Amino acid sequence: VSDHLAAVSIAGLERMAAETLSDDAFAYYSSGARDEFTQRANRAAWDSWCFVPRVLIDSRSAKVATTILGTAVSSPIMVAPMAAQRMAHPDGELATARAAARSGSIMVLSMSSSEPIETVAAIGGSLWLQLYVSHDRTKLDSLIDRAAAAGAGAIVITVDSMLEASTHRRPHGSRDPAYPPLPMHPRGRMDHAIDWDFVAKLTSEVNMPIVLKGILSPSDGILAADTGCAAVIVSNHGGRQLDGAVTTAQALPDVVAAVNGRIETYVDGGIRRGGQVLKALALGARAVLVGRPVLWGLAAAGEAGAFRALDVLKTELGQDMRQAGVRSLDEVPRALVTMNMVTPPQGEPLRGQ
Ligand SMILES: Cc1cc2nc3c(=O)[nH]c(=O)nc-3n(C[C@H](O)[C@H](O)[C@H](O)COP(=O)(O)O)c2cc1C
Repeated sequence: VSDHLAAVSIAGLERMAAETLSDDAFAYYSSGARDEFTQRANRAAWDSWCFVPRVLIDSRSAKVATTILGTAVSSPIMVAPMAAQRMAHPDGELATARAAARSGSIMVLSMSSSEPIETVAAIGGSLWLQLYVSHDRTKLDSLIDRAAAAGAGAIVITVDSMLEASTHRRPHGSRDPAYPPLPMHPRGRMDHAIDWDFVAKLTSEVNMPIVLKGILSPSDGILAADTGCAAVIVSNHGGRQLDGAVTTAQALPDVVAAVNGRIETYVDGGIRRGGQVLKALALGARAVLVGRPVLWGLAAAGEAGAFRALDVLKTELGQDMRQAGVRSLDEVPRALVTMNMVTPPQGEPLRGQ
């Protein structure tokens, strides 16, 4: 299987996943909210930035290794939190965690994981825990304590999910036998009535970096820094929450400008090529997260597939750095990208290898 995967792109993994998964599961993973405008636009938006490569620079030794919140990683590509991965493959989050660990990447474990954090942490890679928070601090504190005890490097608070099941298609919870139990997250409505005071209290009381996921407004980027967060993730939840929300490739530069280097900024949504990672870094992101690409790999071939997803992005990133004359991720100039003047084709399937 691994040899067979050696030449497969993210698009190829997606095709393999579509053949492997049930129609319901594939729809759950691939879909976005309502008309799926944001879900499709996220991908197209990376095409609205073009490279302005520099030439005659010796970038043969270009390295994709970097640090994220001080942790050394093999590339600036993290695994986004995604619910219920056992639906994609029987090994679920364990396979993803092994792939992430082997690739030297950070995995953000979803609160709606089909495995408890202790089991996933035992694999030994770098792990962060994503939480949806409510005013019920007892449950929240116990999850944060478990994350700390398991050696998690950060807590990611997802702030863009005001409606629980959202409007994207989803298998019907407990009635669907394929939908695994969620050991850390009992089903049911979540209380999202939290505000910036809550975040400020959390960052002052919790002895771990707090990262806010789901920031699109520059003003919220500033508030995140003001309230003691360690980083923000510019994200619209892969187009699965507010349809019509701005694409992350468009929102990123304004958030970066507002945050002004006070905290780290990451981005996710629609990233399917290593070159798009390079564009994100040129626009000021320290790192990116990828969601569906890892799920496609997981569904297609378990750990080997999830590993391939991370590996192909990393390889493409290194190749594109060399082609664009970028020697190091510490110096990706803003001038490396410019706005595309040509409307890119919207929502077309990716082709080729
Ligand atoms: C099937 C699926 C489940 C997800 N579950 C979660 C989740 O539990 N928590 C969360 O913060 N984000 C969740 N997300 C959003 C991802 O973390 C991420 O923001 C998004 O997938 C990035 O876009 P991409 O899939 O185009 O890379 C989920 C996304 C998908 C596709």
